[in-house]
Amino acid sequence: MERIFHYSQSTMAAMNNLISLTRKPRISRPRSKSMAVAPIGWVAFTLFIFCVSARAQLASTPVMGWNSWNHFGRNVTAADVRAAADAMVSSGMRDAGYLYVNIDDGWQGTRDAEGNIRGNENFPDMKALADYVHSKGLRLGIYSSPGSRTCAGFEGSFGHEEQDARTYAAWGVDYLKYDLCSFRINLAEQADDITPNQRAALQQSGGDPRAVQAVLSRISQTYSLKQIAMMKDAYEKMHRALAATGRPIVYSLCQYGLGDVWQWGASVGGNLWRTGGDIRDNYPSMSAIGFGQLDIARYAGPGHWNDPDMLEIGNGGMSADEYRTHMSLWAILAAPLLAGNDLSRMTPETLAILANRDVIAVDQDALGRQGDRVWASKAEEIWTRPLSDGSVAIGVFNRGVESVTVKLPFSSLGLHGTPIARDLWAGRELGRLQNGYSLTVPRHGVVMLRVTP
Ligand code: GAL
Repeated sequence: MERIFHYSQSTMAAMNNLISLTRKPRISRPRSKSMAVAPIGWVAFTLFIFCVSARAQLASTPVMGWNSWNHFGRNVTAADVRAAADAMVSSGMRDAGYLYVNIDDGWQGTRDAEGNIRGNENFPDMKALADYVHSKGLRLGIYSSPGSRTCAGFEGSFGHEEQDARTYAAWGVDYLKYDLCSFRINLAEQADDITPNQRAALQQSGGDPRAVQAVLSRISQTYSLKQIAMMKDAYEKMHRALAATGRPIVYSLCQYGLGDVWQWGASVGGNLWRTGGDIRDNYPSMSAIGFGQLDIARYAGPGHWNDPDMLEIGNGGMSADEYRTHMSLWAILAAPLLAGNDLSRMTPETLAILANRDVIAVDQDALGRQGDRVWASKAEEIWTRPLSDGSVAIGVFNRGVESVTVKLPFSSLGLHGTPIARDLWAGRELGRLQNGYSLTVPRHGVVMLRVTP
């Protein structure tokens, strides 16, 4: 029933009415009469299925594209975004499935006299930029916050939610990343456990992100139910505003996994939600995040995905083996694939990792089931993901600093007989595997297989 909550309030109310109509008779009427309400139950069920499938059309597989933050940070310009769109096409990445070109923090200017948000000097004409991106067969994403300030200190959407949603739709925006940022002040102000001094310090910080962070880091930040409810309301509010525009806009929640967002992200309209803090371009950061995504697979599915954060592939801080680990793990996790490098200056090696069709096919598999860890021993871990054609994606990872030989544990992997395998990074068929098949995995590396029973 989790996905039922994706829908507009009116649809929800209608569904709830229908569901409660079907429930009441079971309690208050004799059994024989319950047949009379069966059609209503079917109507409710059919409506539910209809709504689920309508919603699932947005992000029916994990979103793929590019985001400006990891490489360009707050200094991104419209020219960078146009160059990213150009490179997405010329590199073949668009044809491999990368579709969204997402501007992160740093595009916002001031509001006009009517309160309409405008781009800053680096983004003089958002509509023209959207048109350009669309002309390449791509989609445009944008970024804001439920707080009054974004994390980099730009204008947020607090108090302007409907207006901003309308502006984005008028520009032709197809995707919104909505980042908690200074809304943490609003939440902290509600906390029962902060002192008057801390409260005053928060108010004085006036939305300046660094000052806020400093104050918040001194305050115990276990969110109360009331605060989580506020957070949900803030996200739901923007979801309603986006829905009211009538434009299909992918909705990406970014609040670092607070309050176990995977349990309620879909209920406030999220198509994806960050499950933790910011990724950095180094192996400890990427691997801690990627291998930390345990036990949340059941919350992901078509239209609503766990998001371990954007890709760092090609930014220079990791080896090719480490970047292959990054890509493989994200594909097994059914994670959004948002490249975070400078697409206009990619090495062939970076492109080969980002555009590996076999690995992308795992990420985009129509079954939409997120994978999980099934086996671990010392520094070795095996993660698997069931795929729609009955095959299984298997990632054999080596988190250690020496290369290792791993004997595939057939029984833990649910393998029997002599299944057929393809090595997705080597790009070759391995034929039939015998029980006891061993493979060598480089330090911090991966061997990724697609195995058909
Ligand atoms: C962080 C977010 C990053 C990036 C940054 C922009 O909160 O996790 O992905 O969007 O803000 O300021």
